[in-house]
Amino acid sequence: MSSARDMNSLGKARDVETRIGSLLEVMSIEEKVGQLNQVQCTGPNVVEDLAHGIRSGRIGSVINVVDPDAINAMQHIAIHESRHGIPLLIGRDVIHGFKTVAPLPLGQAASWNPGLVRECARVSAQEATAYGINWTFAPMIDIARDPRWGRVAESLGEDPFLASALGAAMVVGFQESANGEADTLIACAKHFAGYGASEAGRDYNTTNLPLNEMRNVYLPPFKAAREAGVATFMTSFSDIDGIPATASDFLLDEVLRQEWGFDGAVVSDWDAIHQLCVHGLCENDVEATYLAARAGVDIDMISGVYERHIPELVATERLPMERLDTLVGNVLRVKIQAGLMDRDVTVLPEEPARMSGLALVREAAAQSLVLLRNENAVLPLDATRLDRLAVIGPLADEPAEQLGTWVFDGDPARSVTPLAALHAMLEGEVEIDHVRALETTRSRDRSQFDAAFAAAQSADMAIFFIGEEAILSGEAHSRADITLPGVQADLVRHVRGAGKPVIGVILAGRPLAMGDIADQFDALIYAWHPGSMGGPAIADTLFGRCVPSGKLPVSFPTMSGQVPIYYAHKQTGRPATPETVIHIDDIPSGAEQTSLGMTTFHLDAGYLPLYPFGFGLSYTTFDYADLSIDRHHVPLGGRVVVEASITNTGDRAGTEIVQLYVRDRFGSLTRPVRELKGFERIHLEPGQSHRVRFELHTDELAFYGRDGAFAAEPGDFDVWVAPSSVGGLHTHFAITA
Ligand code: NOJ
Repeated sequence: MSSARDMNSLGKARDVETRIGSLLEVMSIEEKVGQLNQVQCTGPNVVEDLAHGIRSGRIGSVINVVDPDAINAMQHIAIHESRHGIPLLIGRDVIHGFKTVAPLPLGQAASWNPGLVRECARVSAQEATAYGINWTFAPMIDIARDPRWGRVAESLGEDPFLASALGAAMVVGFQESANGEADTLIACAKHFAGYGASEAGRDYNTTNLPLNEMRNVYLPPFKAAREAGVATFMTSFSDIDGIPATASDFLLDEVLRQEWGFDGAVVSDWDAIHQLCVHGLCENDVEATYLAARAGVDIDMISGVYERHIPELVATERLPMERLDTLVGNVLRVKIQAGLMDRDVTVLPEEPARMSGLALVREAAAQSLVLLRNENAVLPLDATRLDRLAVIGPLADEPAEQLGTWVFDGDPARSVTPLAALHAMLEGEVEIDHVRALETTRSRDRSQFDAAFAAAQSADMAIFFIGEEAILSGEAHSRADITLPGVQADLVRHVRGAGKPVIGVILAGRPLAMGDIADQFDALIYAWHPGSMGGPAIADTLFGRCVPSGKLPVSFPTMSGQVPIYYAHKQTGRPATPETVIHIDDIPSGAEQTSLGMTTFHLDAGYLPLYPFGFGLSYTTFDYADLSIDRHHVPLGGRVVVEASITNTGDRAGTEIVQLYVRDRFGSLTRPVRELKGFERIHLEPGQSHRVRFELHTDELAFYGRDGAFAAEPGDFDVWVAPSSVGGLHTHFAITA
């Protein structure tokens, strides 16, 4: 009998495929299926409950055990007491931090900083692996264009280019290692694919994605993750055009394996193989098992159907043994390549170093903040000119809420809240009057409104910390009305009556529709859920120790009914313009329908977002000038170079995120009105200029066209170097055949 222990001694030089082959030769069917079987177990006796299954090789992976002693004990059984000594995959959702929590992925995306995102993932990996966890179910790189969907919080936003860059950075951050692989956290690109298009933004709902939309919008971040070396993929829960992703031969075989050459492992989402029956794709678990195994799901996350039914499917030769071996080989490959078979996977349960993590997530929080409004430069505040601040709202001092969704292990004790940070910063200088005013963001109790008003009246200004608690976004937490919950907007209007400047800091897991309230704030900072060190980052920004640089990774609707609203929409045959929009209030009574032949807008909301993708203000200003392009005609396979000079025209140093957009004017399929194709963060001192240079290869303009082929098409292109998805410096070029 050969065992992983024996093979370890042969060292890494031995070819991975040979190792897999040798194991497959000696494994029983039950042991093979065991590698495909991920189990969950909670309760006090995890190790006892799972010991037999692990020892007999019937469990290859465990989810949601985080006690290092239990993990050590389970690994010990797997390695030393099972026939082949194959270690377990220990999975956990480490989404934006383990103990130390970085901003929500959507907040991290507002930094447009792949390097920072990568470092945040690295901290997660170091902390989680110190507990024995070796597999995270992140990054979630579903394109999210409907913020009713609660999982927009966990996404990297609406744009394939930005999500690709940041998702790939996360993959590298999780999986790279500074420590002989001991701190490698296997990443998982999820949810493959199209989950973000759930109808009505209702979680788990059906998606209807035309192939070109799937290919051109939803798949690119997954391809980027694949290219970044992600070791695993997770299937989406959803039904896409009648075939749930978990049984999709097209996605799992044709695209992932054949086109992209992926040789890692695919895990189903939670119970999703069994749910193929619930979807109505098949009548029973035997059939569900067959469909998922045939399509290419390697690991069954907790439904147990693989363990129960694969042996009979193989025995009846419905599922060929070669197919089973392929699935098992994929799992073994992940374990071998992550080094799990070649090192001691047990951990010494000790607190990993925290301080570097805290400093990093503080920086990440600062870079995630987006300044949406700053009338009369009310921000930054100057403590020497203030005597008293009214700090109002249910989220000023909530250590757990500021962590956001998906922080099963996050330690609220490590959070520094905005209120605590303001006290620490302003101690002895400025008095702070904190009025919570509402028990929760959803509360409808107005009894503290007058207390909040009085606090504002006797202060120099009011700073609101409002938005959504963590529970209002994330998985299974979708909302149909995405305005500020409860009576928070009324509270702001009420306090505004005190006549003092009003600053809003919004903590939320989604872009809220604030068309009816945004102009009540003199200044507005969008803080997402900023993580452990959100408080100091916000205080630093309010008082100018940090200059905001974040830009929106999603469009902000004016009102809920506008969604999905995103910048890279199609032109339509009747594009709206400011001149063509009619507002409902301007329709005279008794008017007859005159609007036939009009354009694409809502009578009550127009057609523009409240804040566009890519938008964000600074405490300084940036001028864009001197756009140049090195050629106006570029042959297929050639490159075009676009440059512009960006100057800091204010009196503070600041960071600008310069964005490159193109529009393919005519295509074999209609193309978006703009598409992000590049971005660069530049830091400029007052008066300093920098010439930004973007080089675009025609391959970067390729898309899946009418004939299904991926190619750039000759024709005219617009190009912009811009501070957001609106405006900017414009020029054009043409691709020639
Ligand atoms: C269901 C979620 O959709 C998925 O993202 C997560 O990783 C698994 N549950 C495991 O918790």
